[in-house]
Order: sequence, then C-alpha cells, then structure tokens
Amino acid sequence: MGRLAGKVALITGASRGQGAAAARAFVAEGAKVLIADVVEELGKELADELGDAAVFQQLDVTDEAAWATAVERTVDEFGSLNVLVNNAGVLHFSRLEDTTLADYQRVMSVNQIGTFLGLRSVVAPMRKAGGGSIVNVSSVEGLAGTPFLVAYTASKFAVRGMTKVAALELGTDGIRVNSIHPGMIDTQMVRDALGGGEFDTSWIAKKVALGRVGEPREIADVALFLASDESSYCTGAEFVADGGATATHALKV
Ligand SMILES: NC(=O)c1ccc[n+]([C@@H]2O[C@H](COP(=O)([O-])OP(=O)(O)OC[C@H]3O[C@@H](n4cnc5c(N)ncnc54)[C@H](O)[C@@H]3O)[C@@H](O)[C@H]2O)c1
Repeated sequence: MGRLAGKVALITGASRGQGAAAARAFVAEGAKVLIADVVEELGKELADELGDAAVFQQLDVTDEAAWATAVERTVDEFGSLNVLVNNAGVLHFSRLEDTTLADYQRVMSVNQIGTFLGLRSVVAPMRKAGGGSIVNVSSVEGLAGTPFLVAYTASKFAVRGMTKVAALELGTDGIRVNSIHPGMIDTQMVRDALGGGEFDTSWIAKKVALGRVGEPREIADVALFLASDESSYCTGAEFVADGGATATHALKV
C-alpha cells in the first residue's frame, strides 16, 4: 500500500518545480492531488500525465475567493481534504534601498498572505476529515538573512512563524502543521533569478557540505514524509533540507 493511500492533497504552485515534484511523488504513493497554480498549461499537462489521481485548478493564492473554489473543487473531486502543501512562492532580488513598496508587497502577498489564506481555508475540511497535515514551504531564508532578499526573507520568516501558531491552535483537532526550509534547489525560480538559461552552480555548491545544489525531488520527499502518517508526532517543527548550508556560522569566504 502507498504511503499516502486514501489521502487527498491540495498542492499550490504545483505546475512546475518543487510543487510538481511533490504532486508526482504524492500520486506515486497513492494520494489524490489537486494541482493548483496560476500557470494553467503546465499544470494541465501534469494532471494529464498523472491520470485520474490528479486534477488541475487555477488558483492565485493571493485571492481569497479562489481559495474557497479550490478547496470546494478538491472535496467535490476526491471526497475530502487531508493534506495542504503551501508551496507557491515568488523570489525577488534587490538591494534594500532599491526595493520598491510594490516589489515588497508582491512578494509578501504571494508568500505570506497566500500561505495565511491557505492555512485558514483548509481548517474546516480537515476538521471534517478528522485531521490533516499542512506543509508550509519556507526556506533557509526563513532561518537567516541573505543580502538583496529583504522581502523574500521577511515573507519566509513569517511562514515559519505562522506555522507555529497554526500548529498550536490546531493540534487537538488532529491537524499537524510543519515548515520545510530548502536550501538552493535547481528550479526555474532560481534559474530566472540568475538571469535565465543554463547557469554554473559550482560556486554555490562549494559553499554547502554536500557540495551540490538540491533537486526538487529531494524536497518533495520531505513533504511526502510530513504529509504521511509517518510524521504523526511532528507538528510546529522546522525541517531543513539544505545540503548543510545552515550547518556553519563561518564568515563568508
Ligand atoms: N528553488 C529554491 O532554491 C528554493 C529554496 C527555498 C525555498 N523555495 C520555495 O519553494 C517553493 C517552490 O519554489 P520552486 O523553486 O519550485 O519555484 P518555481 O518558480 O519553479 O515554482 C513556483 C510555482 O509557484 C507558482 N506561483 C507563483 N505565484 C503564484 C500565485 N500567486 N498563486 C499560485 N501559484 C503561484 C508558479 O507559477 C510556479 O509554478 C517556493 O515557495 C519557494 O519560495 C525554493
């Protein structure tokens, strides 16, 4: 039997990258998955690839009404909702003094408010299902700062913080809430931030214990563990998967 047999998951930002890897991993372990994203074409392609176990739903995580629709669709399609992966996110690099209010608000709106709306939207259906697991994708930027990432870092600290509050409020309902803190993972988000196309990751790889950047599947596997009953006593906790990036306090070289 699959590790997620009988579970129904809603994964945001699942059209590509780590969210798509999670959708594939969850379905392979027996879950039904609602692939939610603003990018429709890739999301539909992925749903087709995954067959009856997955459907695509257009969802902008900043849109409160669209959350209600996505949750309703999940329950209509698959009968309940047991797992939410708040994975959708955007990255924006700029020096603090050059970060416009619009830049800051856009990042906070997707990464922070999107996560808040997701958390709030699934409480009732998870209670009805007798419990559930919420996985919030933060970052190593939710544990420490990085220059030129003021909005992103603030948003990912917020995700880490609201994970604790939700875990404390929802524990007795059988709803577990945890955060994942990936280091640098090879996805389009990072490629776009570094100018698009192929890029040399060796200078980043040299800075982490494992000597390489991560693959989306390596984060999906952490999400899979947290979504499954194997993590039944984990809540309010931080799960770091960063190749050892945060293992050091050394000054940068
Ligand atoms: N790649 C990394 O190095 C890294 C490291 C740490 C944390 N993260 C986090 O992991 C998560 C996944 O990122 P990724 O690396 O797979 O990037 P990605 O850009 O490949 O995927 C992000 C997905 O989110 C979707 N999205 C963006 N705005 C949205 C919105 N308003 N509503 C719904 N969907 C939206 C995008 O369309 C995309 O499909 C993000 O939260 C990101 O901040 C990434």
